[in-house]
Amino acid sequence: MNSNMDKNKLTFDAPCVFEDGCRIWTRIDNKPIGYATLSRNDNIAKLCDIYIYDKSWHLFTLLPKLKIGKNYRNKGYGTELLLYVFQFCTAQHIDVITGTVNGEISRLIPWYKSLGFNVRGKNKLYKKLRS
Ligand SMILES: CC(C)(COP(=O)(O)OP(=O)(O)OC[C@H]1O[C@@H](n2cnc3c(N)ncnc32)[C@H](O)[C@@H]1OP(=O)(O)O)[C@@H](O)C(=O)NCCC(=O)NCCS
Repeated sequence: MNSNMDKNKLTFDAPCVFEDGCRIWTRIDNKPIGYATLSRNDNIAKLCDIYIYDKSWHLFTLLPKLKIGKNYRNKGYGTELLLYVFQFCTAQHIDVITGTVNGEISRLIPWYKSLGFNVRGKNKLYKKLRS
């Protein structure tokens, strides 16, 4: 765990029931710092999106990025969120999590692998939660 991270203050906000889709928020002192979006098909969940806030906010597409707020990336929060997603999915009787890596693929793939995902082809993620 990164020493800059205050794990004790981190909370997760997930629905009790996961039917077709859901979003899990992570917060510090009740303030959202990121989320994971999942969809479900039977016992397979798809990680549609995972996002930890940085300090760039797009107000309008024509304006440059405004640097306001705090950067929460690279402090271990995304890892904690993904570990929570695994726990949540296991409790919801999901057997497999899939996904597609988008963005900085060369940085993201080692991260997903370190969290137990297999990478198929260029960017397809696959992780078994139970055998
Ligand atoms: C990917 C992301 C959720 C990780 O959360 P995080 O809290 O920053 O990650 P952690 O601190 O737990 O772990 C650090 C690892 O995250 C990845 N990471 C961090 N910032 C990143 C960024 N801007 N772009 C891509 N990967 C990033 C790297 O693999 C990093 O390890 P490294 O520093 O050795 O390269 C977060 O950086 C983010 O929201 N990125 C932008 C959205 C995104 O790329 N989502 C994934 C789409 S498949």
